[in-house]
Parts: sequence; structure tokens; C-alpha cells
Amino acid sequence: MNSPAALKPTKAGGTAFGLPGIYYWSEPHFREDMSRIFYRNWLFAAHECEIPNPGDYVTVTIGRDSLILARDNAGVVRGHFNSCRHRGSIICHQSKGHAQRFVCPYHQWVYGLDGRLEQFRLMQDDCDKRDYPLHSFRVEVVCGFIFINLSSAPPSFDLARETFTRFFSPHCTTPVKVCVDIDYLVKANWKTIFDNNRECYHCASGHKEFCLSNFDFGMPGDPRSSAEFLTAHATAQQKWEHLRLSPGPVNFPNGEWFRCMRFPLKKGFVTESLSGEPVAPIIGDFSEYDIGSLRIVGLPNMWFHLNADYFMTTRLTPISAAETRARVVWYVRADAVEGRDYDPLRVADVWRITSEQDWKLCEMNQQGLQSSRYVPGPLSRTAEQGVADFAKWYLAQLGRTLEDAGGHGDDGMRLIDRVDSLISSETNGFE
Ligand code: FES
Ligand SMILES: [Fe+2]
Repeated sequence: MNSPAALKPTKAGGTAFGLPGIYYWSEPHFREDMSRIFYRNWLFAAHECEIPNPGDYVTVTIGRDSLILARDNAGVVRGHFNSCRHRGSIICHQSKGHAQRFVCPYHQWVYGLDGRLEQFRLMQDDCDKRDYPLHSFRVEVVCGFIFINLSSAPPSFDLARETFTRFFSPHCTTPVKVCVDIDYLVKANWKTIFDNNRECYHCASGHKEFCLSNFDFGMPGDPRSSAEFLTAHATAQQKWEHLRLSPGPVNFPNGEWFRCMRFPLKKGFVTESLSGEPVAPIIGDFSEYDIGSLRIVGLPNMWFHLNADYFMTTRLTPISAAETRARVVWYVRADAVEGRDYDPLRVADVWRITSEQDWKLCEMNQQGLQSSRYVPGPLSRTAEQGVADFAKWYLAQLGRTLEDAGGHGDDGMRLIDRVDSLISSETNGFE
């Protein structure tokens, strides 16, 4: 039988440890994640090119909510809760479509694209249509990328808008279209997936194809980066400055939810492809392909890679404590012609292979995290600082600090103390 004390790892001075296992599999913790993180923070939802014309819409599911993103007659992207104001039926039951108006399939109440209730047949005079618009949520569009927030008091989007605009703008001067999209159901907690995203410790062994074009270890300004990376970065930086592509890295400033950095690719690669060759025509303002790869991470649900010839976005939407939907979308220039200018299979190659490798690693990690014997092990200061930083951001979202969690001298021990209190307050399957 394990006592909580016996589960503590050997203390290693200054070493960080991951989150306790219970955060990855308990349904109460999952519900807390949804209410305190996914229903409060800004989320990536879709790209404008998926709804180019008035009346086009897509639906997105967050927690218990189905949501509609629709372009109204004025061209504005609107966010509506997909729940009729009569008796609550879902109104749009497809993942995407086109409508002049939204007609509820149950009793045919009719809503405009802007959410206003326009008709409700057989209703009495003392009911006023103006009182029953669809519930709405906040939407922000930055260079085509659509962000949403379900809170009635969303945090400011100003810094994100300003930062994303600076980084995205040169890539977004030409319209794009969806080239490939794949929806995965990953049998892992959303944090298992994000922990995996925040480190490249596993890349050399787990992502042979990704590592053809990408350095598995390297951060601008980090003296622990490999010499090959530092040389490539210094050379690329000069070129980016010349091309006016040099906004310095933005790395979760002051605990913010986003990171934007441009990375050089390996010699012989002008994009993240298997061959090193471009896989589609140039998107945006560039006269050449070799501009590195712009990587954006947004907590809690997105990461993007913007190459000169294609973009890749990944969007996470949690389903349960141990299941997450991951939608991966590849975009090419809107006027590129399939078969002549690009082959969708080649565009998607690297990130389809890499994503599927990651899902498998995450699913294996999730299974092991659920072990009754799991306690977090030490994180590599060289390769897993991002995992430790993500844990800090996550606990801050829950209103907890590492200090609250215990009085020990390092992050890991504080987190383990947190597990002790959870063990004592819940029956969680330990013997
Ligand atoms: S539930 Fe929509 S019209 Fe009745
Ligand atoms: Fe990975």
C-alpha cells in the first residue's frame, strides 16, 4: 500500500516536476478545467476562409455547448450559441453549411444571421420577438484567424490582437483556402496533449519526418541550443530583418496565453516538407520561400505553423477527462489550383505524420498517467522547461500558485504536496 508520503519523488534541488496525475484523469478536475479555463479564456475556433460569404457558417463544440460561427449580411463574423430560444433545440446540426436564415427544426422559429429572432409562428401577442435573440459570444478576427470567448466578461484581447497582427500580417496579404482538414479523437486529456506540445524531448526519436526540416532543440538566445541551430538562427535573423520579418520572440509575456516565434529550418529545407522543396505557391508578401517557420502557440487550445507555402493550425476541444478532439487544418493560397500548383497529400505530409505520431505518444502517456502508482518525475531543465511553464500557467488559471501548494524549495515538491491534499480529500483509486 502506498501512503501519499511514499509517493513523493526524491527531492532534486531546483528541479521542476509535472502536474500530479489526478489532474489528467479525474472528471471533477476536468469540469473545473472547462469552467475555469475553456469557458473563460480566448480560444481559436476557425479561419475566416471557411465562411467566406454571408450565410456561411461552421459549428464548434466547447464543453456542453454547440456554437455557431456565421458570416452575417454585413460580412461580420458572429458567434451564436446553437440553442433555440424557444425550448432549446439545436438549430444547426451540421458541422458547416450555408443559410439565408437559421430555422429551428423543431417548431420553426426563424433567426437572422445576426441572431435576431424574426418569426415565431402561433405565438401570442404578449411575447415580443425582440426579447429572444440567440445568445451570443465574443468573436475576434485577426488576419483571418477567428478567436472566441464564451465568458460574459472576457479578458482583454488587446495585447493578443496587437501581437498576432504584427506576426501574422506579412503572411496574410493573399487569401487562403482550406486544403486538407482532419478531425482526430485523441484518447488523452487536453493537458497531456499540451505537455507533449510544449517539449521536443521526444522529437528526435518520435518525429523523424518533422526533424528533417526542424531542429529538435533550439531557442533563440538560449546558450544550451545546439551550435547548428544558433548558426542557422543568426543567419536567418539577418535575412528576416532585411525582409522586415523580425519582430522579436514573444514568449508568454507576463503569464499571457500566447507565444509567437519564427524559427529557421534546416539547411536544404525552405518549408516543412519531406523533401525540402516547396509544396504550394507562396502565401503572402514574400519574394522567396526561405523565411523559416512562424510558430504560434495559444493556451489552452491551439498551435499554428505558418510556412511560406502553407499554414497548419491545430485546435483542441476537450470531450472528457481522457478524450480530446484535435482538428488539424492545412491552408494554401486561395488561387492555387489543386493538381497543378499543389498536391494536398504532399502539403499535409509532415504535419499529418507528426500529429498522428503525437496522438499515439499522448495516448500512451495518458494510459500510464492513470496508473495508481504514477507520481510526476523530474523534468529536464534543458528540454522540458515549457512543460513546467505550462503547469504554472495552468495552476494560475485555477487561482492556485505553486506557493499556495506547499512550502518546499522547488516547484515539483509543491505540486506533490498539492497531490497529497487531493489524495486526502478524494477517493481516487489509490490502494
Ligand atoms: S425549440 Fe426551436 S422552435 Fe421550438
Ligand atoms: Fe511531438
